[in-house]
Amino acid sequence: MTAPGTRGLLDSQPSNLLSVRRPLRDGHVEFGGDYNPEQWPREVWDEDLRLMTEARLTLATVGVFSWAQLEPEPGRYELDWLATVLDGLHAQGIGVDLATATASPPPWLTHRYPEALPVDHEGRTRWPGARQAYCPSSEAWRMHAVALVEQLAVRFGAHPAVRLWHIGNEYGCHTSRCYCDTCAVGFRRWLLRKYSDLDGINRAWATAFWSQGYSDVGEILPPRLTPDDAWSNPTQQLDYRRFASDTLLDEFLLERDVLRRLSPDIPITTNFMAMTRFNQVDYWRWVKEVDVVSTDYYPEFADPFNHVEAALSADLTRGLAGGGSWLLMETSPSAVNWQPRNPAKKPGALQRDAVQQVARGADGFNVFQVRASLVGAEKYHSGLIPHAGTDSRLWRETVALGSLLARLGEVAGSRVAAEVALLWDYDAWWACELDSHPSVDVVYPDRARALHHALWDRGISVDVVPPGAPLHDYRIVLVPTLYLATDEAAAAIRDFVAGGGHALITYFSGIVDEHDHVRPGGYPGAFRDLLGIRVEEFAPLLADQSVKLDDGTVADIWTEDLRVESAEAVRTYVDGPVPGRPAVTRHAYGDGVAWYVATRTDRQGTAAILERVVAETGVRPAALTTPGVEVTRRRRDERSWLFILNHTEADAVIPANGVDLVSGDEAVGEIRVRAGEVAVVRETGEE
Ligand code: GLA
Ligand code: ZN
Repeated sequence: MTAPGTRGLLDSQPSNLLSVRRPLRDGHVEFGGDYNPEQWPREVWDEDLRLMTEARLTLATVGVFSWAQLEPEPGRYELDWLATVLDGLHAQGIGVDLATATASPPPWLTHRYPEALPVDHEGRTRWPGARQAYCPSSEAWRMHAVALVEQLAVRFGAHPAVRLWHIGNEYGCHTSRCYCDTCAVGFRRWLLRKYSDLDGINRAWATAFWSQGYSDVGEILPPRLTPDDAWSNPTQQLDYRRFASDTLLDEFLLERDVLRRLSPDIPITTNFMAMTRFNQVDYWRWVKEVDVVSTDYYPEFADPFNHVEAALSADLTRGLAGGGSWLLMETSPSAVNWQPRNPAKKPGALQRDAVQQVARGADGFNVFQVRASLVGAEKYHSGLIPHAGTDSRLWRETVALGSLLARLGEVAGSRVAAEVALLWDYDAWWACELDSHPSVDVVYPDRARALHHALWDRGISVDVVPPGAPLHDYRIVLVPTLYLATDEAAAAIRDFVAGGGHALITYFSGIVDEHDHVRPGGYPGAFRDLLGIRVEEFAPLLADQSVKLDDGTVADIWTEDLRVESAEAVRTYVDGPVPGRPAVTRHAYGDGVAWYVATRTDRQGTAAILERVVAETGVRPAALTTPGVEVTRRRRDERSWLFILNHTEADAVIPANGVDLVSGDEAVGEIRVRAGEVAVVRETGEE
């Protein structure tokens, strides 16, 4: 079997050598975390080093929130303490992911330049006292950030401990959009670059509506608070999200270019938040600018399927890395502090979480943070060294994990192969989130999660790709809620199907173009011909309503008055607003098939549809498995590793041959993986 699915995106990566997605170090899966020694007295630093060595940590992210300590007053830099930290880590063989420390400005900066404070859409200033309180367009902020990065690059760019530069931190996490006057000026400039002139803006924004026509570019504002129940122009809102993402990216590039100039040999990253809960920046645009793709993933503890969400986040990050190497930069070793209720992770969960990320392509597992704080807003956030000290389960699990990840070093640089792609698009997500839509219940990531979950249950790997990506290496392409579909995205899906692939498109896809203008002639405008259907009107369900389908499954949220033209009905509604009408359709098109799911099927319904698509395409799982027992395979050259993660409460038996790197046991024909445990089988004679 070939390894399809990863070539296309790689081709589109920049040619810069550093941009090839290779592991930080061949033969090593990194293990580390955010390390914040500035919060601790010096005596603790020695113990930190001893414990990090005991747990076999290989990477420490240092200095993320250290600006105020590194530059206590404008222009007065105190870098010696950081040199001591880097020297200490280096002496233990621990590499450093060195932050540019610009994640949060010190109070002096916004005190001197109050215009550098961010303003929300209601015109309220967001004040310092927490973190990330700055306007990304601010000249003062940018000037001081660049000066700091220059100092750090000159002093530490050649330090032997430094393996990676870490710019900013979680861009957009707290201040994603600023609505101040400086940003307004930047927005106008951005719009003129995009649309050339005022006419272009008026046309794209359809300002004939509600007397919004602009006679001068200077009249244009960010989408600030408007009168009650009168929604801002949707294209203005959409463009503002694009502009805000690009503005943060500009800010990143400013720092990146300083590092490229002064420290060209050290690769550069910034920690993304590639999760289905975060869409403040368009990572497909960012990814071309980083050398190492890294992400933060935090579980939503109230979600019983948070481990499936973790898998999707990893698949998304692998997609961002073009199928190549990436790092999990942060997750919590145990509890977080920022959910309403913050339980500790159960025994074994840390190991499962770490191996899961590696199973899905990560070449490093790092946490926030090494030592749990005793002070500050995050003191109830777990660290590898907990408040309880080293006589604790968490520390023992940490030490065991360090030794396991060291044994897994051989998988670094290998790749996960997938025959299924899932389209993921921030533009479509932003547009789908706009107000005054047919139903508030249509939520962009919902169907992506459901489709991914159904395949996860079957052990089928999914690559996450941007619209417009080359699709020819895949057998199935999933198109969840692609509400906004450009002509190019629609054409890529059409060509894929014409060439023999199966596309599965879910409701509220292909409705508008890139400006959020409806595509006329019957829904879903961009996919009507491909799907062989036509919808005259939507029939969203009211809260708490559901409908039955003719296979006995139940659906909710959405139905449509759908008529098949050249498609066949696969499922129909038994009741609800459009009884007898098709709910799922299948359309032979060219050499392939286009499927449409017009309602929010339940878990069984979704699984049944995918079962059929999988059967028709012959897509195979990494290994035969049962729901809840996650399986993936990584390959490099002739070698392969089968990862098995048992998330259930019963032992599982999975077909496997080779040596389990976790237990050291030989698997002949099959392997038993106990409830909650994991196996990583270095395979012999696979296929
Ligand atoms: C984010 C940040 C960290 C820390 C953690 C806590 O990931 O990057 O600095 O605040 O959240 O979960
Ligand atoms: Zn601003």
